[in-house]
Amino acid sequence: MSDEVVDLLKQAYVDEVETVMNYLANAIYLETLDGEDVAEDLMEDVQEELGHAEELGYRLRYYGEVPPASMDIKPTQDMLQPPADSTDVETVVDGVIEAEEDAIETYESLVAAAEDADDYVTADLATELLADEQAHKAAFLSIKKSF
Ligand SMILES: [Fe+2]
Ligand SMILES: [Fe+2]
Repeated sequence: MSDEVVDLLKQAYVDEVETVMNYLANAIYLETLDGEDVAEDLMEDVQEELGHAEELGYRLRYYGEVPPASMDIKPTQDMLQPPADSTDVETVVDGVIEAEEDAIETYESLVAAAEDADDYVTADLATELLADEQAHKAAFLSIKKSF
């Protein structure tokens, strides 16, 4: 077992849970005439990111680790706080793109660390989640182009 793998699993888990919280808040907040499509996409991603957290949590359990709970976390996603104006869909989209880029970086690091540690199962999971985050980023980049 590698400490680096466990640390990255925990970081990824925490980021996914924080993402769920912020996508949910923004999805509800943006659900107006202007923001309806983005709100719908975000609500779908809430389920997907929650699924990511679940898979990471079971990997942590495999290593005898407890998945982080609310008192263990320090929030970092400034860019995903709902904007003052609920019609400011573009700010939310920019925040989502930034959050997806952070997730991509974390999963790239996790793939590398897991491969170094000969932990093929975690490497495989991280590769799968990396592909999901790349797809999320691409989807929101194309939404951004429509503004
Ligand atoms: Fe995710
Ligand atoms: Fe994502």
